[in-house]
Amino acid sequence: MKFNTKVIHGGQHHEKVTGAVMPPVFQTSTFAQVSPGQPIGEYEYSRAANPTRQALEDALASIENGARGLAFSSGLAATDCLLRLFKAGDEIIAMDDLYGGTYRLFTRLYKDSGIKFHFVDMNDLDGFQKLINENTKLVWVETPTNPLMKLADIAEIAKITKKHNILFAVDNTFATPYLQKPLDLGADIVMHSATKYLGGHSDVIAGALVIKDKALGDELHFKQFATGGTLGPMDSFLVLRGIKTLHLRVQRHCENGAKVAEFLKNHPKVDKVYYPGLENHPFHDIAKKQMLGGFGGMVTFTFKSGAKADAIKFLEKVQVFTLAESLGGVESLANHPALMTHASIPEDKRKEIGITDDLVRLSVGVEDADDLIEDLKQALA
Ligand SMILES: Cc1ncc(COP(=O)(O)O)c(C=O)c1O
Repeated sequence: MKFNTKVIHGGQHHEKVTGAVMPPVFQTSTFAQVSPGQPIGEYEYSRAANPTRQALEDALASIENGARGLAFSSGLAATDCLLRLFKAGDEIIAMDDLYGGTYRLFTRLYKDSGIKFHFVDMNDLDGFQKLINENTKLVWVETPTNPLMKLADIAEIAKITKKHNILFAVDNTFATPYLQKPLDLGADIVMHSATKYLGGHSDVIAGALVIKDKALGDELHFKQFATGGTLGPMDSFLVLRGIKTLHLRVQRHCENGAKVAEFLKNHPKVDKVYYPGLENHPFHDIAKKQMLGGFGGMVTFTFKSGAKADAIKFLEKVQVFTLAESLGGVESLANHPALMTHASIPEDKRKEIGITDDLVRLSVGVEDADDLIEDLKQALA
């Protein structure tokens, strides 16, 4: 089955009793049993499994080409579940530019866990390999990164992790499986903030893991069941509905993202534009190799003045774009990473990686591109 068919039919069946084409919202915590320990059907209790969540999880596995999908109450709950595979003494190598909440989870929540985190430039493959030792258990990469649109070469990193028998996880939130399939490129686990493009309508907080190996998927399901960060039936329904139009939406996000990036590149008040589709983007070659069919809808830029005040004024003036956290919905959003999504990263660390105070991140939606560009024009003016 090809991708555009999979988003609609992958892992899906009509409902057995009524023939409902969309899986109903099985808004129930528990399922009747005929005798103790003998449920009527295959379900017992919704923390373990629920038919609506199962339909979503099967769709997730299908579109990411994995053996098992798991749906969580948020992207961070998914990442937290994955981290439960590791114990004191283990080491994790992560990319040095990550979503602020992921960085906070690694550096604050797991601070006293005894797990050691290294944050490195994943494009310096020699430097990264030097850190590997017998305690290294996981490599964690976000590509493209939030908000600086850095890329990591998934296939090259996978060659190294395979050689050393280390798990390799990729946060595929920005690219989506429409553009990039980490498991096909050699990764073991894909993570999503399904709040973003998978859900696609800014109406749900959700997360996902898709695992290539069935046994590892089952182990993670046990951890999810035992800790309980599962996605509810209604939210599962919403993400599943979102996935059915993922291919259509992402195409338009890519078209609009490219037009917005081109407009910003030529604007006299704009300094740097971070968009992997631009030929002068430092990781354009990696993008061409592993993001197939487009470069996404996320565009980040800075001001020639370098002034925080200019970024703030711009964000107060946008009208079609909404000033808000999050991304990946049909509507365009604008965000100030240093004051909003990435405020949990200490200031010196933010400066070191390039999240300056004049940096603005745009999630370019699927509206008419002319209206978006007019809006940017007036806000920049
Ligand atoms: C790239 C990326 N990964 C993970 C997350 C965390 O996901 P959630 O907000 O659904 O917990 C986010 C949220 O913005 C994100 O942008």
